[in-house]
Amino acid sequence: MSQPILTRRSALAGAGALLAAPAILRAQIVPGGDPFALGVAAGDPAPDGFVIWTRLAPDPLGAHGGMPMAPVPVQWEVAADPRFAQAVARGEAIARPELGHAVHVEVGGLSPDRPYYYRFNVGRERSLTGRARTAPAAGSRVDRLRVASVGCQHYEDGLYTAYRHLAAEDLGFVFHYGDYIYEGRGRTRRIDYDGVPRATVRAYVGDELYDLADYRRRYAQTKLDPDLQAAHAMHAFVTTFDDHELDNNWTGDGDQDGTPPEIVLLRRQAALQAWYEHSPVRAASLPRGPAITMARRAVWGDLADFRFLDTRQFRSRPPCGDGFRPACPEVNAPGAHIIDSAQERMAALPAAGIWTVFAQQIMMMTMDRRRKVDEPAPIMNLDTWSAYAAPRERFLHNLNGRRDVIVLTGDEHQNFAGEVRDKAGRAAAIEFVSTSITSGGDGQDLRPGSDVMLANNPHLKLINDQRGYVVSDIERDGWIADYMVMDRVTTPGGLLSRRARVTVPRGEARLSVG
Ligand SMILES: [Fe+2]
Repeated sequence: MSQPILTRRSALAGAGALLAAPAILRAQIVPGGDPFALGVAAGDPAPDGFVIWTRLAPDPLGAHGGMPMAPVPVQWEVAADPRFAQAVARGEAIARPELGHAVHVEVGGLSPDRPYYYRFNVGRERSLTGRARTAPAAGSRVDRLRVASVGCQHYEDGLYTAYRHLAAEDLGFVFHYGDYIYEGRGRTRRIDYDGVPRATVRAYVGDELYDLADYRRRYAQTKLDPDLQAAHAMHAFVTTFDDHELDNNWTGDGDQDGTPPEIVLLRRQAALQAWYEHSPVRAASLPRGPAITMARRAVWGDLADFRFLDTRQFRSRPPCGDGFRPACPEVNAPGAHIIDSAQERMAALPAAGIWTVFAQQIMMMTMDRRRKVDEPAPIMNLDTWSAYAAPRERFLHNLNGRRDVIVLTGDEHQNFAGEVRDKAGRAAAIEFVSTSITSGGDGQDLRPGSDVMLANNPHLKLINDQRGYVVSDIERDGWIADYMVMDRVTTPGGLLSRRARVTVPRGEARLSVG
């Protein structure tokens, strides 16, 4: 991927059709700076198209992003080539103040399995050019797909250099597992897992996020980053959310502070509306009150069937008081749930014949978190599937003994790969846990005690504590996961390298690390 498509916006010359008299009038209703300062994005690829997104915000951190409180028409165009010589679709969308002047266009009627280019115009201003691939036709033979797993991009913990590297990858799409923003107040110092205070690389603007304007401003600050914009401009994303899009370890209508549920739901409504406004997702994900449809599916020909799960909105409260601690009997509560019944039905698998991928947020493997040999009892992360033993076992049972099931996960801010074993010890799936783009700072190859974790968890085959992302190379006879890590994220110019290559032969729920 080397074509220089990230062209700067510029005054239109020779694009008369788009700059007729009405457009000049429109120019007057977008005041001040670049209305496309937050970049562009595409998402949710299908065989016939994808969503294209932008949000008008000439003053990104100012009130209402610097926009007037009025609907504003935005022109969009899609072409088969980066110079827009072969236009294939164009139209007008309305950027509404109710949605923060975000624009979501569901482009259809495109050809399967090829790249397209898109851009927006408002008045005399033009966005940078984005690129996205359509999915292959349903059922068509597909020999190969490359997908990246990314997420956990705490803005204060590091620079988004990994996203600059991601923009150069050749990918079908990017799966974002959440923590696009973090909800805490801006800080100049942060404390890592090791208890050591460190200076932040850059600070979030403002206090902890509670209302819609707070969340919008944080997304705007995040999206001003040019490396993040480059990644979005090059690849379609399938974006999900985890906890920090709202609040640390929230589930359903509960938070860690014991806030009344009806109050949590008000905050959830603001947070998930802001998530919708800033994500390239389809109209099916438009929030209705505090509820949002995030779980969805994408099928890549006859090769891979992705089911994107929502493990937050329908989950019962974490058992045993949440956190990292020894399990209590509550982890076996028969009525606990992680996903809703509609997702459970979606997760019940048909006959073999296609890689089935559960792309989701929290770790599905069991994991004893002890890092010291003298700790007496196993330590569990109670914000993972293994703290919900009944629905976890039901989910694994519903995989019907299939041998080509992959789980893609984030949340942990560390790299892991291993077998998802059921209660009987049978490997039901292979899980690739991707680290973070920045959360946790520079990190290191191995945290102290990683040898203890590997010894206590024989199903765990890889552990690493650097930043980066996982690229999955999906082929008919095997799955290759490359763990790409950054040498640093707290200073510019971080270098990317492959820390490990994990391979899974088709039809065998086992993995090898090279
Ligand atoms: Fe995170």
